[in-house]
Amino acid sequence: TPRSTVFSLIQPTGRFHLGNYLGAVRNWKDIVEYAPEPTRLIFGVADLHAITIPKNAKELRDNRFEAIASLLSTGIDTEKAVLYHQSAVHEHAELSWILSCLVSMGNLNRMTQWKSKSSNVGQNASLGLYSYPVLQAADILLYKSNFVPVGDDQSQHLELSRTIAESFNRTFGKTFPLPNTILAPTRKILSLKNPEKKMSKSDPAQNSCLYITDEPDIISKKIKKAVTDSISHEFKYDPEKRPGVSNLINIVSGIQKKKIKDIEQEISAFKDHKQFKDYVTDIIIEELKPSRLKFNELLSNKDYLYQAVEKGNEKARVVAQQTIKEVKQKVGL
Ligand code: ADP
Ligand code: NA
Repeated sequence: TPRSTVFSLIQPTGRFHLGNYLGAVRNWKDIVEYAPEPTRLIFGVADLHAITIPKNAKELRDNRFEAIASLLSTGIDTEKAVLYHQSAVHEHAELSWILSCLVSMGNLNRMTQWKSKSSNVGQNASLGLYSYPVLQAADILLYKSNFVPVGDDQSQHLELSRTIAESFNRTFGKTFPLPNTILAPTRKILSLKNPEKKMSKSDPAQNSCLYITDEPDIISKKIKKAVTDSISHEFKYDPEKRPGVSNLINIVSGIQKKKIKDIEQEISAFKDHKQFKDYVTDIIIEELKPSRLKFNELLSNKDYLYQAVEKGNEKARVVAQQTIKEVKQKVGL
């Protein structure tokens, strides 16, 4: 049995952008690389969560595989980590139902993500969107996860997962460890066009996102168009007064895993915006190049991709089936 389990899922909502990369999947890759043996490492694509907001079937089908390709393209080692599709493991839905009978509507009503996502649609919001955090708890607990690397926007859901685990343990006997959040070491990446908001693929503004599949000329164009400010002699990190410049510095700091201060030192002698932006552009192009090439290669070899994910699905099922057997037995099913 493993010493501890690290687990996380990401939604298949199209190509990954630099925020997803620095805020999530590159950390997964690092965790896989540096986790001590015999940590159990399980990462996947949350395709059941994706349909809480209606999706076009063809698009979803493509996105599910593009998400797996994106994960593989960052270099996650599948000898060490499981990479799988949530919907391929039926036990997620089964455990979700059992846990939904232990959580109060009062607790779900307090979820701020539910409040904001349902506010536009009111009573038309789906039951699935409402119970999203219960499915998330089931995902985590199904693998008896100890550590869950997620963005800070997920902290409240992780807290609920702990509440649900405690409730199950109290009612049926100790079964689940209480999962801990691992927050990303990089500060949030902001939109290139509106550095007040986070970089997000749902942002309609043109050129606001850098995708890990962007060709060098596209990256170059987007950075040229990125909003900065009129101060051109000194490039310093000041997120309040200079959000655009600071966002680019933060991106470089994230990519190079260097302190903001060290980046400031490197750029202190820069004379103009062009020099600053060329520097940022080169670093991003260099970082994303291997992922882009690998991604394109993977998408041109679909059979390999399907086989890779099916292997992951199989490994995930083995763990999931053990847990659900134990859970049903304890519940009396
Ligand atoms: P989006 O906002 O583009 O829809 P998601 O909400 O699907 O992205 O996020 C997937 C993962 O990527 C989460 O772990 C989230 O914390 C991380 N993430 C998304 N956007 C950013 C960002 N701008 N900066 C840092 N991390 C981000
Ligand atoms: Na989002």
